Amino acid sequence: MQWDTKFAQRTSFMRRSAIREILKFTQNPDVISFAGGLPAPELFPVERIREAVDTILTTRSAQALQYSTTEGVNELRDSIAARMSRGGVQVTRDNIMIVGGAQQGIDLIGRVLLDEGDGLVVENPTYLGMLLAWKMYNLRYWTLDTDADGLLIDQLEFLLHYYPKLMYLVPNFQNPQGVTLNYQRRQQLVRLLDKYDCIVVEDDPYGDLRYEGEHIPALYEIEARMHGSTKLEGRVIYSGSFSKILAPGLRVGWIAAPLPVIDKLVQAKQSADLHSSTLAQWIAYEVGRGDFLKQHIETLRTVYHQRRDVMLDALARYFPEEVHWSTPAGGLFLMVTMPEYLDATELLQDAIAHKVAFVPGIDFFVGEAGWNTFRLNFSNARPEMIEAGIKRLGDLLKEEVILQPM
Ligand SMILES: Cc1ncc(COP(=O)(O)O)c(C=O)c1O
Repeated sequence: MQWDTKFAQRTSFMRRSAIREILKFTQNPDVISFAGGLPAPELFPVERIREAVDTILTTRSAQALQYSTTEGVNELRDSIAARMSRGGVQVTRDNIMIVGGAQQGIDLIGRVLLDEGDGLVVENPTYLGMLLAWKMYNLRYWTLDTDADGLLIDQLEFLLHYYPKLMYLVPNFQNPQGVTLNYQRRQQLVRLLDKYDCIVVEDDPYGDLRYEGEHIPALYEIEARMHGSTKLEGRVIYSGSFSKILAPGLRVGWIAAPLPVIDKLVQAKQSADLHSSTLAQWIAYEVGRGDFLKQHIETLRTVYHQRRDVMLDALARYFPEEVHWSTPAGGLFLMVTMPEYLDATELLQDAIAHKVAFVPGIDFFVGEAGWNTFRLNFSNARPEMIEAGIKRLGDLLKEEVILQPM
């Protein structure tokens, strides 16, 4: 059967995620993997989840195992709305739709907002999962470079003269670079998007995982304050997730948005999967009750902070001086930049042979760039493995750098 001739035309733009492919190699326990965005498995709150499941099945099994509404379990929506109500903004249950992980939220946002050929503004590099999800819309990309304080705001106004439909960004501890957009640029950004009538997706799965510096208000807070509003009724669509602060296997995330957007998203989700797992939503709710989530996030911050420092320290000791890297104040990733004559995809072949893995940066870039970059995750491996893995990579890199003709 010639399946190639049968697939819908729009599938010709679809690609498998490079990360998901690399993760297959890293199943081998001998491989030290800095590839996935995986949380530390030993920190999963297993006992708390066990107790939560027990409580749920004892007290509300009929609800938790039944079909439920597309918007999601009300108790969970209320608790998310309460967490997000800050900086003078009152987020309500009606602003929240639960999704099967932030990735589903991104997919659904594309379905309800993007037409073929629409203009999209992104940081470059940007989140690979968004690029893949929206590939089938054949978008026109307008890209912004970044520095240590996030995207270069001075480039934005010029791009907005083309009146793009949407901007997507990860303002906190971005995936892949780990950079954070500073407060001043956030204010400028919100003002400019208003001026040019551009909507924005604020994708924020890492915002709680800050290891140093002050928390910076979210775009939706800044926008509300600027408009003198207490409601979520502007142009920001916020995406949140329990994947990095609880467990990605639960597949529970949320979108917080103005009511007309939620209404359309609910229609799109109804035909995608009816609703997210009722049981998983109840688990997220029950586990997060009281102060537990707050305390758990503190634990994650302490452990990941230490792992980040171990990685930064090892990079300084083992990597050749021709190689540079970002220094994230939070999140799970940093990005390495090699001299332009080196190719990270080629380096990965050698690295896998030496049982260490990373993700080449090229897939995070729009256009022909980033071949000499790669992303490292520091949350998943234990400190001694981070040290050993960075040494292996450093040795390989030193050979590669020396091998190049001057
Ligand atoms: C920026 C960004 N957005 C969304 C996601 C998807 O997260 P989830 O597990 O909630 O689908 C990720 C996962 O790594 C991410 O880095």
